[in-house]
Amino acid sequence: MSELRLCLGLESSCDETAAAIVGADRSILSSVVYGQADLHEAYGGVVPEIAARAHAERLDICVAEALREAGVAKEEIDLIAVTAGPGLIGGVMSGVVFAKALAVSLDRPMLGVNHLAGHALTPRLTDGVGYPYILLLVSGGHCQFLAVMGPDSFVRIGGTIDDAPGEAFDKTAKLLGLGYPGGPLIEKAAVDGDAGRFAFPRPLLDRPGCDMSFSGLKTAVRRARDELVAEQGGLWRKVVADLAAGFQTAVADVLAEKTRRACEMFLAPGVKEKVLAIAGGVAANKEIGARLAEVAAEQGFRAVLPPLRLCTDNAAMIAWAGLEQYKAGARSDMGLVARPRWPLDEDAAPLIGSGKKGAKA
Ligand code: KG4
Ligand code: ZN
Repeated sequence: MSELRLCLGLESSCDETAAAIVGADRSILSSVVYGQADLHEAYGGVVPEIAARAHAERLDICVAEALREAGVAKEEIDLIAVTAGPGLIGGVMSGVVFAKALAVSLDRPMLGVNHLAGHALTPRLTDGVGYPYILLLVSGGHCQFLAVMGPDSFVRIGGTIDDAPGEAFDKTAKLLGLGYPGGPLIEKAAVDGDAGRFAFPRPLLDRPGCDMSFSGLKTAVRRARDELVAEQGGLWRKVVADLAAGFQTAVADVLAEKTRRACEMFLAPGVKEKVLAIAGGVAANKEIGARLAEVAAEQGFRAVLPPLRLCTDNAAMIAWAGLEQYKAGARSDMGLVARPRWPLDEDAAPLIGSGKKGAKA
């Protein structure tokens, strides 16, 4: 291989099967994502066995589509990057085995990439952001503040000690009978709601630092719901709207305050522009997005929100992280294993929380 030009990325760590072709010049030639929400909807969350089977069945279709969309022959691929963790082990294994087989058949290098590094490096792909910068990752499976120092250098500033915010949205939506995935449904229900009606907690705001907790908030919603059901025999639409609005504003308050602290803690002498990048499905929430943008502006940071399709799980971010890390000297061989847990910052104290992908960060 003379020059590293095109990378095929593969992602299968949760409930999206994805393949993408990305150029070293930051061009995204294709990004195909097969969601599985329909397969898991009836269960109100991701079922690992169903997810793993669906990945195994769809990876080759996804890759064929990504190549076709990009107008690229498989022989033109210079590198194969695959999510090797953290995530649901069955799905990650499907991707890793597939990548190995493809690498052997094409005689190309293959690199195992940390899924979180994919999210963390996306602002470089989409906006050409320079190192270092802060990333807030808020999704169904992750919630952490990272200082991104280099392609494989991350410092965890804080994170959730239990549920990820998206997970809290999903569980709360289930409690309120709204369906799955819960984030957009809570947001919709909250439009007509009175956020001040219920006094929900703002967990961990009384403690210093940037760690967060969301599981108590969900429990508070359950308690309020149960009291209302006992009192009035059911839930009125207006009550659901008020509960949804109260919950959403509580999450926004916690994220806003912890983001303010993360910005304050970020010392980057010599950096031309301080950047706060926000990624993950929860960043799609308008109230939360607006609050975070406000905090960034107050703290003198430029807020970078990559387009949603690149913020939520996708393979373009894996291809890009693969390109950056391979150029920086990272290598994998056929001994590459799938890792259910794989903290980006191996030196940070482990968190006790889980997230829908299982304990991992
Ligand atoms: O990043 P993502 O697609 O997948 C991972 O979890 O990695 O995030 C999905 C999560 C789900 O929990 C979903 O409920 C949440 O993001 N979400 C939202 C909104 N849209 C998606 N949460 C709040 N408000 C939204 N509008
Ligand atoms: Zn993700």
